[in-house]
Amino acid sequence: MNSSALNRRNWLKQTSIGAGALMFGAQVIPWTSKANPAFGMSPLYQPMLIEDHKVIEKDLAELKARLLANENPYGPSPKAIEALKAAAVKGNRYVYNSSMKFAETLADKEGVSAKQILISPGSTDILEKFAFATCLKGGNVISADPGYMSIVNTARAIGATWKNIPLKSDYSHDLKTMEAAVDDDTRFVYICNPNNPTGTITPIEEIKAFAKRVSKKVPVFIDEAYIELMDGGESAVSLVQEGYDVIICRTYSKIHGMAGLRIGYMIASEDRVESIVDLVRTEMGISVTSLHAAIASTTDQEFLDKTKTLNREARNFTFKALKDLGYDPIPSHTSFILYPIDMPTKDFAEKMLSMGVGIRVFTINDKPFSRVSMGTLDEMKYFVDSLDQITG
Ligand SMILES: Cc1ncc(COP(=O)(O)O)c(C=O)c1O
Repeated sequence: MNSSALNRRNWLKQTSIGAGALMFGAQVIPWTSKANPAFGMSPLYQPMLIEDHKVIEKDLAELKARLLANENPYGPSPKAIEALKAAAVKGNRYVYNSSMKFAETLADKEGVSAKQILISPGSTDILEKFAFATCLKGGNVISADPGYMSIVNTARAIGATWKNIPLKSDYSHDLKTMEAAVDDDTRFVYICNPNNPTGTITPIEEIKAFAKRVSKKVPVFIDEAYIELMDGGESAVSLVQEGYDVIICRTYSKIHGMAGLRIGYMIASEDRVESIVDLVRTEMGISVTSLHAAIASTTDQEFLDKTKTLNREARNFTFKALKDLGYDPIPSHTSFILYPIDMPTKDFAEKMLSMGVGIRVFTINDKPFSRVSMGTLDEMKYFVDSLDQITG
């Protein structure tokens, strides 16, 4: 290890940005901004500032390594692309029949009925619509901090408050405190497993026991965007099969490499599906081309296995390289790694950008962090070299 790596290790130690540093008192945080909910963030948790976001948008095409949105660098699958092209001629028709067939395929796969599946243009659509369906009359929502904010921000934008429950020192959900936070005004509890932006998991048995109890009082929403990338990852879908008021959300943006094609789906009770369908016409947002690409991708096991293997290789390489450079990355089960940095977030993001590397930065409990998404091995090597250069 070089001397700058040693200094970095000492600095990180002194400022105690390691495991355990996330402990923080829970607060009820009302929504105060009129800004697009996607950009409204907890004061404890600030991804790239909106003005920086604009700078990055402008430079995205020129990036040498685009590692900022947990995209899959290998997708879409060749079979999905073929299906997408073939479906182009069906562009004059609504997706009705094809989407029903796809819902049946997903229902078979998930062990539920087709009426318990809601297909959507990406899982963001489900997250936001679920928040609308449950929080139109205010109330509060409970989720981990730091965590994925989409559903919470929509809930807050329409009048709910957020009970943020800090992750535990091992970065798993503090389910005990989350359960204790449920009250008469709680509209839902949101769990992201594995969690974004930490990449960490909460043991599935703990989640199941928690959800069995809590879903008797309020719906428990479990976002499994990264579950297929996890080694031995087990879904909580059995709870839906058993009739608990649990909502599972999945996306085609990650392992399927279809972030720009926009397909996701929800698995829940018929009542929960209806609570959204009564309000909005989710199916109308799905394009026939994306739908056919998703149908083909679902059974392209070769592509899915390849993505998982290459993602694991990139993650192992990056984790070790970060360690060698003196960082203290959080072990990840996903397609990204979060690590504390020893520089203000804006400076760090700008310096990386000047090297042609797009990453995300977060302020968590007043400490600067960066999250790097897994690209190809070559991109990760370029990321590591760039990191070494800007901080070495
Ligand atoms: C945890 C989590 N849920 C949902 C999403 C949204 O994915 P999409 O709308 O592309 O399906 C993301 C995207 O990064 C995510 O990290």
